[in-house]
Amino acid sequence: MSCDIISVRSESTCGVGVEFGYRCIPFSEMSFVEYRDVIQNGDTAIIFLGHDSMFAIKVQQGGSTQTKYGAIKHSADLIGKKYGSKVTCSKGGWVYILHPTPELWTVTLPHRTQILYSTDISMIIMMLELKPGSIVCESGTGSGSLSHAIIRTIAPTGQLYTVEFHKQRAEKAEEEFCDHKIDHLVTVKNQDVCKEGFGVVNIADAVFLDIPSPWEAVKYAKSALKTEGGRICSFSPCIEQVQRTCLAMTEQGFMDIHTFEILLRVYDVRTVSLQLPDLGVGDTNNQDTVADKNQSKEDSWSDLQPGTTQFKSGAPLREMAGHTGYLTFATKYLS
Ligand SMILES: C[S@@+](CC[C@H](N)C(=O)[O-])C[C@H]1O[C@@H](n2cnc3c(N)ncnc32)[C@H](O)[C@@H]1O
Repeated sequence: MSCDIISVRSESTCGVGVEFGYRCIPFSEMSFVEYRDVIQNGDTAIIFLGHDSMFAIKVQQGGSTQTKYGAIKHSADLIGKKYGSKVTCSKGGWVYILHPTPELWTVTLPHRTQILYSTDISMIIMMLELKPGSIVCESGTGSGSLSHAIIRTIAPTGQLYTVEFHKQRAEKAEEEFCDHKIDHLVTVKNQDVCKEGFGVVNIADAVFLDIPSPWEAVKYAKSALKTEGGRICSFSPCIEQVQRTCLAMTEQGFMDIHTFEILLRVYDVRTVSLQLPDLGVGDTNNQDTVADKNQSKEDSWSDLQPGTTQFKSGAPLREMAGHTGYLTFATKYLS
């Protein structure tokens, strides 16, 4: 089998071809940091039933998955098919099979904690100035939602040091990173970041905190960052946590301290009907209604009531995603 030889900083936990400090990653394997065309045995794939209905599966020879449209047989329906294919289920309905991405994983992963979603994650990745090759420290790992996005950004040469003091969560995250073929890009440490820090000194380009008492970890964030400096971000739901963290950042010499809240507004595209005002001139000369009425069957103009007009509009959803948390960013400069 042809292999991509990648040097690793830590021993692989899934025992895939470890040899003299190098790990063989077969070209044919899917991973969260590389796209592959064809679905294979052992892949994580996303079953797409609709924009708000998706779930992740592990593709297994001989396995099957139940959906509301009937069963999908992995050997016959998935293995060897292209990602993006439309697959017909046993009851005749169909689904799409998608290649996994950090964004799709965020909306399908098994929750072990509260997680960060893509709106906050995008801001974090941009404001921490992450790029391929970046060295990042993170705590806590939680369910690994943010970790996957960081890893995709810093690949193929960066490294994430993620700290989680809950043993089972740390182990589960390590298992998932291995399963998603990204374990060579991440080191999971099972320790208390507020007491023992990140386990690395003067190597990080950026530090991210999502823990209840981030102010207790700020001094460790400072020592983990490179001597020439770097960026920090702390995520907290409550403003009192933000105040204490900003004070700790100031005490540790961080500068450019800014706190943001990112709110997402999703729009639904709808056809809206409006009653035209009756100005007493009759409606036969009304260009909008009469001309358009003959053009678009898709918009059901034939159902248009006399005296009304219709147009496409973007309407915000009735329920909007609310407060997730405050993001506080700061910079460590060379002192
Ligand atoms: C809200 S979750 C993090 C979610 C994560 N950002 C994600 O997107 O999936 C917070 C995690 O931090 C861990 N944690 C809390 N305090 C910690 C500490 N002092 N040291 C290490 N981990 C800690 C918790 O066990 C929990 O798993």
